[in-house]
Amino acid sequence: MTELAIADRTLPAGDRITDDELRTRCARPAFGRVLTEHMVSLRWTVDRGWHDAEVVPYGPLSVDPAMVGLHYGQVVFEGMKAFRHADGHAVLFRPHDHGARFADSARRLAMPELPVDTFVAAARALVRADERWVPFEPARSLYLRPIMFATDPVLALAPGREYRFLLLAMVTENFFGADSPPVSVWASTRYSRAAPGGTGGAKCAGNYAPAFLAQQEAAEHGCQQVVWLDAAEHRWVEEMGGMNIFWVHVQGEETTLVTPPLTGTLLPGVTRRSLLTLARDEGFRVEERPVALDDWQRLTETGAFAEAFACGTAAAVTPIGRVVAEGREWTVGDGTAGPVSARMRTALTDVQRGLVPDRHGWLVNAAPDESKGGFLTFG
Ligand code: COI
Repeated sequence: MTELAIADRTLPAGDRITDDELRTRCARPAFGRVLTEHMVSLRWTVDRGWHDAEVVPYGPLSVDPAMVGLHYGQVVFEGMKAFRHADGHAVLFRPHDHGARFADSARRLAMPELPVDTFVAAARALVRADERWVPFEPARSLYLRPIMFATDPVLALAPGREYRFLLLAMVTENFFGADSPPVSVWASTRYSRAAPGGTGGAKCAGNYAPAFLAQQEAAEHGCQQVVWLDAAEHRWVEEMGGMNIFWVHVQGEETTLVTPPLTGTLLPGVTRRSLLTLARDEGFRVEERPVALDDWQRLTETGAFAEAFACGTAAAVTPIGRVVAEGREWTVGDGTAGPVSARMRTALTDVQRGLVPDRHGWLVNAAPDESKGGFLTFG
């Protein structure tokens, strides 16, 4: 986009944290804890549409306690990543796809859509402002968190007429730790994540807090993550608490990567979609088909389902080592990371880190073409 210029209100060099402080803060970047020094802010009103685009220092907001987003959950967000390449420059991974999903989520919650080009320009502006926070360590990246919420101070039960878009960034290793060890999962039959016609396919804040109780139940059963089953029968595996899921189905010489179809009750993951493409590139078959929890157990016990893994922006590719459900449990493979999961993880991260050619055009350079007059513009 070139139309909506983003005002550059970044901190003067002398007010930024020192390199030593930066190193200290980033020493152990547990997910969600090491936020950078800036954020992007935009506003939307019925009369003016999107306006007041600016990169500002990261800091607390002043919001009205009666705002719609806070009371009625009119909030959508995204998660995407920027990576440092060996030549030093920073790239965004599939920002247009994240922007398109952000717009889809907004539409589902009766919110205005942020044009995808503006979304991408905002991401590039933030990566540029916080360029020195983009990690050089191969296991790390800069995780970007776009969020939009209704700000009108009106408790009438109606969609907002004014909105705020913010974009934050944080330094991260992988969600489950630097080398993504296999995780154990609890299949919840007590709680449901999403029902047909609901918001399961949208990335809205309201999908996440209801998962916390199921996540606690998982922890009580010694597991790190929840596996969600369909709401009607509690039979079909849908996704995990914030990640999609794949199985590695081995039949003789043929290996198929299987993942549940996008029925509207699970999130259309950008990583999920990338892995379907990369799996074909690697010579695997891919299938989007429903998998019952019983079949997961049975096919694991026959050896046909040799591996399973979670995938998402935060989780990348994380092997699943053990499954626990009411009255039963089983180990996936030998409980350690399997070769296909490892291969898919490498295939994904190699593209992200620029170690192999970007055959599908997924990477976008974070640098703007020019910077003038206190505004950042992107060609
Ligand atoms: C992501 O993978 O980006 C997510 O949004 C999952 C979770 C950290 C909320």
